[in-house]
Amino acid sequence: MMKSAGHTLIASLTPIHSVILKNHGRLFPNLIYGNHTKSRKLHCYHQKCQFHKENIMVASRYPPPRFSVAPMMEFTDNHYRTLARLLSKHAWLYTEMIAAETIVHQKGNLDQFLAFSPEQHPIVLQIGGSDLDNIAKATQLANSYGYDEINFNCGCPSPKVAGKGCFGVRLMLDPKFVADAMSVISANTNVPVSVKCRIGVDNHDSYNELCDFIYKVSSQSPTKHFIIHSRKALLNGISPKENRSIPPLKYEYYYALVRDFPDLQFTINGGINTIDEVNAALREGAHGVMVGRAAYSNSWNLLGHVDSAIYGEPPSSLTRRQVLEKYQVYGDSVLGLYGPRPNVREVIKPLLGFFHSEPGNGAWKRKVDAAFMECTLQTIKSFFEKTLGAIPDSVMDSPITQVPIVFSDVFADAKNLLPPPYTVREEEEELLYG
Ligand SMILES: Cc1cc2nc3c(=O)[nH]c(=O)nc-3n(C[C@H](O)[C@H](O)[C@H](O)COP(=O)(O)O)c2cc1C
Repeated sequence: MMKSAGHTLIASLTPIHSVILKNHGRLFPNLIYGNHTKSRKLHCYHQKCQFHKENIMVASRYPPPRFSVAPMMEFTDNHYRTLARLLSKHAWLYTEMIAAETIVHQKGNLDQFLAFSPEQHPIVLQIGGSDLDNIAKATQLANSYGYDEINFNCGCPSPKVAGKGCFGVRLMLDPKFVADAMSVISANTNVPVSVKCRIGVDNHDSYNELCDFIYKVSSQSPTKHFIIHSRKALLNGISPKENRSIPPLKYEYYYALVRDFPDLQFTINGGINTIDEVNAALREGAHGVMVGRAAYSNSWNLLGHVDSAIYGEPPSSLTRRQVLEKYQVYGDSVLGLYGPRPNVREVIKPLLGFFHSEPGNGAWKRKVDAAFMECTLQTIKSFFEKTLGAIPDSVMDSPITQVPIVFSDVFADAKNLLPPPYTVREEEEELLYG
């Protein structure tokens, strides 16, 4: 039964797909976890084909277009994702990056790193790493948590990650390793896999070099979805924060990828701050849009519009008061779940941008600071009682206002700057087919 399902699928595959599937069986038999005999391996190989079929089904469970909230270390934790889900039913939520090593070494303590509530679907786990064995084990360990996709980090420029750790954006210089890692991840999970990367590193920043990376990774592994943070990373001399603002955004590279790789899915990321800009990117042909900082620092105005402005749902009547009531129930239920953590400060952190630009925001922030100084603060309920008086009822009880549509042409401009089309160089083809 399994065999014929695999065979049917193989019959419909292109030569490139066949190479990928052969590579799975040939290159990574030891990295498919479980106690496999020879016939078990064969079963796994065919099961792998089945996995791909399931992947397609899993992917179609959620309707396009796809709006997502970016992975942000120390920010997109369970608390933030709970708040984000109260504001948007449809946004895809990414975890913070978790190193494969952390998952493997914290094996007895995994809930703290990987558990999430069922409401958070669709949710993507982002992992990072440079050791195939640990990447395989981490993927396997994450399976029981039921993430909807596994994403591999090839974009982080932090010295701890891209320097000492030799992963993150540094991996863009080693597409062969990324393809191997993606094959290993895919071989150990039954959900889709994706890569998040930059458009280049240091002086490896031409459009052709970016295409070589995409071509090698997508043709030598099952990766069909790439999230493109549309600026390069500079590895020497600037901080991770500066690496998110100093290198210029080049959306023209993103749209050129959409043009040159019609069989792949690309999500655009970087510097997109409003719902109008999200829609403008989609209008110009983006397959998906990912927003990071704006979705955190201005969550109400950004995420509150996602379901209606992007997914076509009726305008929401939800108020901030209703969201906070639900968030309080969540917050008080998780305080101290893991000994001293999470504490009140950690649970409140995602709310710090909740009243962005609203009357009372400044006074509320001062009350928040004062409340954090008190040692007696024990519950989210008491925290709200102490601070929310600073916010007028009109702000607490208004639904999300419909913003006037402002047409942004930033992406149309990018399409006027497209680089010449990519053509696969002969040496790349030889590498693949020998
Ligand atoms: C505080 C912070 C932490 C981040 N951590 C991660 C991370 O763990 N993994 C990752 O791929 N990108 C990470 N990023 C980058 C974001 O995912 C995103 O690519 C970047 O912020 C650009 O998008 P934006 O302009 O919409 O914020 C982080 C960004 C910030 C601001």
